[in-house]
Amino acid sequence: MAGIKTLGQFILEKQADFPYAKGELSRLLRDIGIAAKIVNREVNKAGLVDILGDVGSVNVQGEEQKKLDVFANTQFIAALTCGGECCIVGSEEEDEFIAIDSPVSVDAKYIVCIDPLDGSSNIDCNVGVGTVFSVLRRKSVEGKATLADVLQRGTEQVAAGYVVYGSSTMLVYTTGKGVNGFTLDPSIGEFCLSHPDMKIPANGKIYSINEGNYMNFPEGVKKYLHYAQSTDQATNRPYTARYIGSMVADIHRNLIKGGIYIYPTTTCSQDGKLRLMYECNPMAFIVEQAGGKASDGFRRIVDIEPKDLHQRTSIYIGSKEMVEMVEGFLAEDKAASGLKVKVG
Ligand code: AHG
Ligand code: MN
Ligand code: MN
Repeated sequence: MAGIKTLGQFILEKQADFPYAKGELSRLLRDIGIAAKIVNREVNKAGLVDILGDVGSVNVQGEEQKKLDVFANTQFIAALTCGGECCIVGSEEEDEFIAIDSPVSVDAKYIVCIDPLDGSSNIDCNVGVGTVFSVLRRKSVEGKATLADVLQRGTEQVAAGYVVYGSSTMLVYTTGKGVNGFTLDPSIGEFCLSHPDMKIPANGKIYSINEGNYMNFPEGVKKYLHYAQSTDQATNRPYTARYIGSMVADIHRNLIKGGIYIYPTTTCSQDGKLRLMYECNPMAFIVEQAGGKASDGFRRIVDIEPKDLHQRTSIYIGSKEMVEMVEGFLAEDKAASGLKVKVG
């Protein structure tokens, strides 16, 4: 064991940072880690068993669910139900939040919002997929926890993390004291600390966006793309385009190398595509903890007041200077269109 620190050991060690902690959050994170290992096993053998392809049902977003989406959803909900620390799960794959009222969960004070399988359209072709989770503390003190307990701003998150099932499988999480990454060692079946105190470079060379939607982008985004593609030695441009189509994998790469991930509003989807509670908030918490920025173009993602479990938002996330640059283009454009409205 010399030199190896497992996720379990690390979580226990970090519990000491919170002198009054009773270990509930530690146990919750452990439960998520266990479910992640089970999902990882299935993702890895997806080509071998009859688990590929659509399951036929359609989730609340009107998207077709893949079999592994359903499997991952079931595993995380089961782990959180048995673990006893979670009173509500809000999942991308469930229309309504799930209230857990098993005997072991009577005093549970945590709420988990989760995207059990992110990038699921990539499964059939062996491309990286992920899981994203956000942990909130229940606010109400008596009775059953309600939707009002779930709909908290991202600033209220007590922990957030993601798992990326890639060429190796990693779990990255924060409890608001920096970001740490763990790589799954399949030979011992443990996540081992491999990326302590992760920091995202202040600037980078990679931009990640689905450029197929270019015609429908806001003017500010078009201007930023023009900037990113223009040649300038001093600022290391043109940048490099990288887009996997799994947000977790795209942001994970940019976190390590420096870069920006953008999913803007478009003329077709005016609220953006990605979901605030279980995609954008947790990734924003992690990236901010790593020294980066996450905004909807105009304000911090974590400041957005949620009104719905499945609410969508635009997102600009990654290296601080890159996010600020695109925010500048968007602000310029907003000011110019405000001026046009006044003149008209
Ligand atoms: P999910 O598989 O959980 O529905 O999420 C897919 C998301 C995100 O991971 C990805 O970056 C984005 O959708 C891709 O969308 P486009 O195909 O529109 O680019
Ligand atoms: Mn997703
Ligand atoms: Mn998903």
